Amino acid sequence: MADALISVLLERLVSITYEYMEGELKHVLNVKEDVDKFTRTLRVIRAVLEDAEQRQVTDEAVKIWLDELKDISYQMVDVLDEWNTDILKQQVEKQEREQNALVPINKKVRFSSFSRCFCFGNVSRVIFHRDIALKIKDLNDKLTEICDETKKYQFLRKELGIQQLQQPQRPQTASYVNMSEIFGREKEQNILITKLLGDSSEEEKGLLIIPIVGMGGMGKTTLTQLAYNDDRVKSRFEIRKWVCVSDPFDEIKIAKAIIGEDAPNSNELDEVLQCMSRSIQGKRFLLVLDDVWTDDREKWEKLKVPLMQSGAKGSKILVTTRKHVVANMMRATGNMINLGELSDEYSLSIFNHMAFSDNDGHESKVFGDISKEIVKKCKGLPLAAKTLGSLMQNKRTIREWKEVLNSKLWDLEKVEQEVFQPLFLSYYDLSPTNKCCLLYCAIFPKDYDFQRDDLIKFWMAQDYVNLRGNKERGITGDAVFDNLVARSFFQDFEKNRNTGTITGCKMHDIVHDFVQFLTKNECLIMDHTECATSESKLLGDKVRHLTLRYVPEGPLDISSNNCKKLRTLATFDSRITTIDSNLILQLKCLRTLNLSGNSIKELPEEIGELIHLRHIDLSYNDLEKLPDTICGLYNLSTLHLVWCSNLKKLPENMGNLINLKHLYVELCEDLKSLPKGIGRLTSLRTLDVCRCGGDNDEAFQIGDLRKLNLEGSLEIQLVGDATDKSDVEKAQLWDKKLFDLTVDFKRQTNSSSSVEILNALRPHPDLESLGILYHNGTTWPNWIPSLHNLRLLSVGGGTQCELWPLGKLEYLERLTLWKMDGMKKVGVEFLGLEDQTSFGIRSPQILFPKLKRLGFGMMSNWEEWEGVEEWTKEDSEITIMPCLSKLIIQDCSLLKALPDFLFKTPLQTLRIPGSERLLERYQEGNGEWAKISATNPNIRITRRASRELVLLCLTDFDEAFA
Ligand SMILES: *[C@@H]1O[C@H](CO)[C@@H](O)[C@H](O)[C@H]1NC(C)=O
Ligand SMILES: *[C@@H]1O[C@H](CO)[C@@H](O)[C@H](O)[C@H]1NC(C)=O
Ligand SMILES: *[C@@H]1O[C@H](CO)[C@@H](O)[C@H](O)[C@H]1NC(C)=O
Ligand SMILES: *[C@@H]1O[C@H](CO)[C@@H](O)[C@H](O)[C@H]1NC(C)=O
Repeated sequence: MADALISVLLERLVSITYEYMEGELKHVLNVKEDVDKFTRTLRVIRAVLEDAEQRQVTDEAVKIWLDELKDISYQMVDVLDEWNTDILKQQVEKQEREQNALVPINKKVRFSSFSRCFCFGNVSRVIFHRDIALKIKDLNDKLTEICDETKKYQFLRKELGIQQLQQPQRPQTASYVNMSEIFGREKEQNILITKLLGDSSEEEKGLLIIPIVGMGGMGKTTLTQLAYNDDRVKSRFEIRKWVCVSDPFDEIKIAKAIIGEDAPNSNELDEVLQCMSRSIQGKRFLLVLDDVWTDDREKWEKLKVPLMQSGAKGSKILVTTRKHVVANMMRATGNMINLGELSDEYSLSIFNHMAFSDNDGHESKVFGDISKEIVKKCKGLPLAAKTLGSLMQNKRTIREWKEVLNSKLWDLEKVEQEVFQPLFLSYYDLSPTNKCCLLYCAIFPKDYDFQRDDLIKFWMAQDYVNLRGNKERGITGDAVFDNLVARSFFQDFEKNRNTGTITGCKMHDIVHDFVQFLTKNECLIMDHTECATSESKLLGDKVRHLTLRYVPEGPLDISSNNCKKLRTLATFDSRITTIDSNLILQLKCLRTLNLSGNSIKELPEEIGELIHLRHIDLSYNDLEKLPDTICGLYNLSTLHLVWCSNLKKLPENMGNLINLKHLYVELCEDLKSLPKGIGRLTSLRTLDVCRCGGDNDEAFQIGDLRKLNLEGSLEIQLVGDATDKSDVEKAQLWDKKLFDLTVDFKRQTNSSSSVEILNALRPHPDLESLGILYHNGTTWPNWIPSLHNLRLLSVGGGTQCELWPLGKLEYLERLTLWKMDGMKKVGVEFLGLEDQTSFGIRSPQILFPKLKRLGFGMMSNWEEWEGVEEWTKEDSEITIMPCLSKLIIQDCSLLKALPDFLFKTPLQTLRIPGSERLLERYQEGNGEWAKISATNPNIRITRRASRELVLLCLTDFDEAFA
């Protein structure tokens, strides 16, 4: 299935080439003509690609031809990328020269090793240009040859108006129900029939639309057939119509199908719709639209409006679709029925039913255990159980059964044809970019937790998304992700608690088998156990994405010369200690290198030669340093170094990584500081932790944040001596679109001026989440009241100050305070009131209007929490914490009592571990407890044996609190 890949490559090539022409390259040889010609030839070839793609399945020669084409395309991408890298290199050199001119002579920075390579200046560059030009010429000749060969194959051209090139047949469904196919959907069936028979008054007016959503093969149509043929449903509706919609969505065809035999010959939409209206006028109808793909609201409305106006009250439409967006488009998600995986037990029933159709069950016992194993492969997909069951119908020996059990699912032709068929339909419906992105998922092991942002970065690293010149970087990646989600290629979603956006997901095993099937020669997951048994299992020379698993402790050893084409190399569950420089030197085409979670101490310098690298993940390794040469990877856009706890420093020249967008250095505790050059990286969007300060000239100072256009989350850790306030102001934090900021003074040796520093760190007013750690002042930063969107606030660690009146922060949802040793009493000021008398003032106020979770931890001197004795909701205009649902007070051993107002909030959970006095006071059974449960019958008090708990950092506490 190479067409997707080639299409995207072509798109890239076609859009890329002209950019390069503006540079010096055009003066070299005939390079401009060559590139133009290459582009033209590609366009010619593109026209026949779709046909070639279909034919390669049966025609080996076509397959070879396609592989060659792909190879040339990849090579061209690489050559152009080399050229682009050279342009980047010149930019870096220019920057370095300018930088150097600013520095006084006696402090001149040594030229980086890269600049040194080029001090021969123009001579080497001319040679380099010549090389590029020659390579392009050569590729051009090869492509021309490939193009000439198309004549031999007589491919169909797309321009000739042949739109539908042998797309797989969409099955025509009918309302006829085959009872043998329904197992384990009783619950959904009941819900559906209840909805169909239901007649609640709110539905009376409109037309009830019920979408049934699920991936191909989940049994949507079967379920619908069943409801459609239910006797109660039959007698409820005067007209029932079943229309198999599929793609494209043709309103005229659908309307005619609804009319039935009396449909007019006309192809005028209006006329047909009018006729349709007449045919259902005043009648209660049930319409099934099976397999809807379109999410074009206009088309849908054209059909829906006359249906709504003509039908009688209580008419209903059932829609089956694989795409969640369809339900959205119809504005019918409220009534949606989602079909998920079937349990193994039910799958087994289906399987047995198919395999032993006319037997009494005696035979099924013989194969019992094997059946169960085979059914596990179906992963809850009824269609797969059915297909595999029918595959076994004619097999009656244990040997045959074991063969099926031990084969890879997609090697079974029947499975390929039947189980994958509905997936093929979904797949062909995708655009080339979407196809590529989906196929790339084949390099991840089954059950992998896909994280939206990581996946998008991987796609970007392969240049699938984010066209060059597209200023809004990353947007395309999000669109692809959402699209694949909407089409049921992903499942088991993980959502952001606050925004509801999907941040992570998994892929159904059958879909995973499917993408692996489609990428059979290109993407390979190789388990070390496999390599070991087959001695030196050679990589096929077409493998471009390789995932290794279970590599044992020792050097990385890919015993083959075939890694020259690899564009992705990743490891899972491995313990590699070293990588040989000769191996690295072979990986010249690499875009993505993920060595996360190994035991690597040192990377070879040669990594600097892998100029195409865009994504490197070295997290969770034993690295002490990185080779300086890494700073020559001008295309690098993501570098993960999370929890490299031995890492002492980063290379000085990191400022040369002019494409670096994401740098992760969280939990690198040994890292004293960041190199100053990072302050030049104007492309940088993510820097998870910024350790600023130290007396070293080469160290990143807080003012160096100024030029960085950071977004998202940032943790600022101040180290060393007190930071200079004027330097802090230079950072201009208020200009950065951060939604989450943490400032940590823990590593600062003398933090007496921390409040001034905090004042100078005023964040963007849109900030939503704030953490302040080990702030040593007696007052709070003056900008807190101006954070109108603040939803999460955590403060902790040795703070001396009194509590700030936080009750007026309109959007605050979670507040966590811990280890503030100076705090003895929480007064009414905390609520945002001046003193007790303020409660008498009759001006309506809501204090902590949105607060849901409140937590205090390890306040060792806290004795009193001031209440408001007289306050009752009824006679005060003041409302306190009307949304509070969870309160935790941990290890506050001196606190005597809780304020009364708390028990008038809708509090659900109160946890007070390690707060002995409170525990005593609120013993179940004594008077205080009775008082609480009388005002708030929902409340539960949880108290575990006071366990020793050391809260290391804020996040730990936040988690305990969640
Ligand atoms: C190198 O080329 C640039 C223009 O591309 C020119 O300004 C410079 O003088 C040249 N340097 C040498 C050493 O020839
Ligand atoms: C029900 O479906 C199965 C498999 O698709 C088929 O073999 C069987 O003949 C069908 N039953 C009827 C009554 O059509
Ligand atoms: C890199 O591989 C590890 C497993 O070794 C995986 O958990 C991680 O998600 C991968 N890195 C990224 C950025 O996705
Ligand atoms: C906190 O500030 C006080 C003076 O305000 C100072 O004596 C103390 O050393 C500071 N503590 C730390 C940890 O910096």
